[in-house]
Amino acid sequence: MLLDNKGFDLWAEGYDKSVGISDDSGTYPFAGYKDLLSYVYNTVRSGNGKSILDIGTGTGILSAKLYNDGYSLTCLDFSEKMLGIAKAKMPDASFINHDFAFGLPPALMDAKFDFIISTYAFHHLNDSQKISFINDLKKILAPGGIIVIGDIAFSSKDELEKCKAASGTSWDHDEFYITADEFCKNISGICFKKISFCSGVFIIK
Ligand SMILES: C[S@@+](CC[C@H](N)C(=O)[O-])C[C@H]1O[C@@H](n2cnc3c(N)ncnc32)[C@H](O)[C@@H]1O
Repeated sequence: MLLDNKGFDLWAEGYDKSVGISDDSGTYPFAGYKDLLSYVYNTVRSGNGKSILDIGTGTGILSAKLYNDGYSLTCLDFSEKMLGIAKAKMPDASFINHDFAFGLPPALMDAKFDFIISTYAFHHLNDSQKISFINDLKKILAPGGIIVIGDIAFSSKDELEKCKAASGTSWDHDEFYITADEFCKNISGICFKKISFCSGVFIIK
């Protein structure tokens, strides 16, 4: 089921525990969760610059780690409860309550970021919305900046179908998962790193 902001509000308190359980049991949808967040974290740490926009921050598991390393965080999410939990971990970060299905918020139109990161949030957009949003994000990327998107994703349609068949009734028919071989044809400067059988990271330079 594709959750709205109220659905995420209800999930916020138990979120960290539930993704941990799905990751530890190696099951769809969060198999590879910790590895994926580590990959995004290491990509940022090995790049240049200090300003980060995190799209769909959630409870801030990843962004709080970067915040504690001294990065300047702008956190965007449409769930007040998720933002509240993230804010408690990052008191001096900036927070924007906005639905990214409507593109960039006005407050960010003239901003520039060294890194734009997003984990487990892009699957709320269909492929054409994803492409359009990535093109908007490129406009607020500082020279030499990087967009790093980690999500439930598959190398190919075949791999997606295998996961769908194995997941049975737990498969979410309302979410939009990227199949990298097709999706990457639409974006210049993109590459894909598979993390688990149901997740991967896209890097756009
Ligand atoms: C599955 S959680 C991922 C949270 C965190 N990035 C992580 O990796 O654990 C998805 C987050 O994206 C937010 N989200 C989903 N759709 C959104 C939208 N259209 N606009 C803004 N935030 C959205 C949700 O509120 C939620 O906090």
